[in-house]
Amino acid sequence: MIICGEFFYKGRFIDCAVEIKDGVIVDISKTKKGRRVRGIIMPAGIDVHVHFRDFKESYKETIETGSLSALYGGICLVVDQPNTNPPVIDEKVYFERMKRAEKTTYVDYSLNLGLVNDNADKIVEIVKKIEKKYFLPAIGEVFLKGDMRVSYETLEKVRRSTSKLITVHAEDPNEEDDVVAEVKAVERCLKMGVFHFCHISTARALDLIHESNSTSEVTPHHLIFSKHNTDFKVNPPLKSSEERVKLVKNFKKADVLASDHAPHTLEEKKEGKPGFPGVEVMYPIFFYLMKRGYVSINETIKKIAMNPAKIFGFSRYGEIEVGKYANFVVFDPKDEKFIKGEELHSKVGWTIYEGLKAVFPKEVYIRGEKVLEDGDVLVEKGFGEVL
Ligand code: DOR
Ligand code: ZN
Ligand code: ZN
Repeated sequence: MIICGEFFYKGRFIDCAVEIKDGVIVDISKTKKGRRVRGIIMPAGIDVHVHFRDFKESYKETIETGSLSALYGGICLVVDQPNTNPPVIDEKVYFERMKRAEKTTYVDYSLNLGLVNDNADKIVEIVKKIEKKYFLPAIGEVFLKGDMRVSYETLEKVRRSTSKLITVHAEDPNEEDDVVAEVKAVERCLKMGVFHFCHISTARALDLIHESNSTSEVTPHHLIFSKHNTDFKVNPPLKSSEERVKLVKNFKKADVLASDHAPHTLEEKKEGKPGFPGVEVMYPIFFYLMKRGYVSINETIKKIAMNPAKIFGFSRYGEIEVGKYANFVVFDPKDEKFIKGEELHSKVGWTIYEGLKAVFPKEVYIRGEKVLEDGDVLVEKGFGEVL
């Protein structure tokens, strides 16, 4: 199969023909003839930080609904997080969740392994058992406070015992000021070794990570909102407008853009549960921002596709290039829309991005197969590959 069109290739747009065999790009040329796709063809996104709930929290999201939401948002691969109920802290629950994903996921799916004080002594063994069957992206996200908290001492021990990537939710458990809490936790972890830091919300922490061998992630919500915009809670908390502006100025220094898709029902939000759904709107909002020139296309595509693939080891993802999967998103730049929570595909039906402008994908291709066209999903649940 050959698809012709305006592809984002090696950092710029070129009109070319992309030849695909068994889901993989085998040739990119200017001369071959094939089916012409209208619009702008970008690499499909990777969201390395989603909470798809399921299990006992199926009332608010499942792998099925979360991955459908991802598909509509131009995301071809997710990394799901282990703070489920029950949590993914041993191989048994890990395998059970992967089996569920095999039957229900729309997009390609991978899952992190949780670390808690109780499984730390066995973590290397658990990793080994999982890696016999599946591709484990990382240990994490590791919480330093809350129900799944891990002490710095335990984290340090684990950091020394494995070369596996570890992703950290950096909030110091003893610090009340949330800006200081993030900076402190990052400083402490950087002394232990290399980590991937989830949802960094301060410019200072981003600076520190940028100067190290560790990697960082930022979320759309910390870049777009300050604590004055909403009463809804999230962890790490939204910051002041000054701090937000500093974070935006430092955007270039972040390695990854991830949604931290964390759905809760509106009733739960009123009770103060932290987290926002976001997997479906991240790429559409950033495509709009790219189009308007607010963010650089190259920087954004690096953070939404290339870097996640590199950092987490998804060698066939993240770029339109020979040898990679044919994972594309087609945008019609003119197709601007106001985001409406009730039109999104997460179970919860609300969004903090209500009323913001975005450009949603017109078509999505995963491993060469057209999976979405003009708002219709063309595949069944279970289409996504489990890594
Ligand atoms: O706001 C958050 N929600 N932060 C987290 O770290 C967890 C997440 C969730 O799972 O709800
Ligand atoms: Zn987190
Ligand atoms: Zn999270």
